[in-house]
Amino acid sequence: MTAPAGATALTATAATPALEIRDLVVRYGSGRKARQAPPAIDRVSFDIAPGETVGLVGESGSGKSTIGKAVLGLQRPTSGTVKLHGQDITAMSLKQRSRLVADLRVVFQDPYSSLNPARTIGQTLVEPLRLMGIKGPQAVEKARAGLESVGLPADAVDRYPSQFSGGQRQRIAIARALVCEPKVVVLDEPVSALDLSTQAQVLNLLADLRDQRGLAFLFIAHDLGVVRFLSQRTVVLYRGQVMETGPVEAVSQAPRHPYTVALTAAAPVPRPAEQRARRTAREAAGFGTAGAAAPSATGCPFVPRCPLATDVCVTERPPLRLVEGTEAACHHAERLKDLGAPHRSQARGGPLHRGRGAADA
Ligand SMILES: Nc1ncnc2c1ncn2[C@@H]1O[C@H](COP(=O)(O)OP(=O)(O)OP(=O)(O)O)[C@@H](O)[C@H]1O
Ligand code: SF4
Ligand SMILES: [Mg+2]
Repeated sequence: MTAPAGATALTATAATPALEIRDLVVRYGSGRKARQAPPAIDRVSFDIAPGETVGLVGESGSGKSTIGKAVLGLQRPTSGTVKLHGQDITAMSLKQRSRLVADLRVVFQDPYSSLNPARTIGQTLVEPLRLMGIKGPQAVEKARAGLESVGLPADAVDRYPSQFSGGQRQRIAIARALVCEPKVVVLDEPVSALDLSTQAQVLNLLADLRDQRGLAFLFIAHDLGVVRFLSQRTVVLYRGQVMETGPVEAVSQAPRHPYTVALTAAAPVPRPAEQRARRTAREAAGFGTAGAAAPSATGCPFVPRCPLATDVCVTERPPLRLVEGTEAACHHAERLKDLGAPHRSQARGGPLHRGRGAADA
């Protein structure tokens, strides 16, 4: 990509990840009490290759948005590093980051609050272009082309957000993120606020744009089924720690971590009979609920909810280790069959829709 005037030219080699997160720790607040509380993000590391989508999944409060905010510079990490195309951007100020507008962009969850109601769509779209030194008719032309690329008419530039539906607004938010032709996009629950059929349309649009432009996505969602649709790899987060990571098909069809098993079993499915069977299987496996007691600071965070927990789980934090093709942070991953989890060799096309990300992998 040629960086226009005012934008940062980041050179990348094929071997350089588009995004690299290393040993990220984020603590909110200050003072002794905050230091004693468990961090919101606790030593998280993963990479995203150019053109790759990594799905970050976990239940509410697991820390997904906090990682997104640390990448975007909206929350300063306590320690660890974030690199964009090999350049350390961890400590960059927001002002310095405005020069990254051509490289790193975001789409947020709520299409109603993320667009300024007092500005026309055209004004909203030319704003990031101005940071790149693109102004006047050239910027308006790019805004019109951006709207067409997301399936909206070019004359939408003269209209206001209130004149569009939720799905159309999310398309506008995507156009705003992509108008500067970035290489890395953080998508924080971009379809959660949309109805099911609009979700599918927006996910397909994102997959098409990614494939056409070679974009790298950090795709945040709480539903492994949605993550599977768009991603090649997934990172499963619980209480700020990575529980499991690997190819999305393997992780979603035959999880190797008890938390991923619980997350998969809890995912909503459109067929009531299957939903009932999943609930029964989950109850039989003995998983605790999300509100279970806080874990000890030293061991595995899933102890209070885990039917496989033993003494070592309380005293030693399990490291991520390779278990049948994915990495799982569990002392007893090999005992998952006791919970009725499918063996990886049994995994095949499952009940979830076939993922675009998986198909492309
Ligand atoms: N500004 C903040 N100040 C203090 N604590 C915060 C702040 N933002 C988030 N947290 C805490 O950090 C943890 C992770 O929050 P985060 O928003 O990253 O979770 P999430 O996985 O994105 O959840 P959701 O799926 O609900 O969006 C939670 O315990 C949350 O309460
Ligand atoms: S380390 Fe222990 S408590 Fe944690 S998920 Fe594995 S078996 Fe369960
Ligand atoms: Mg969030």
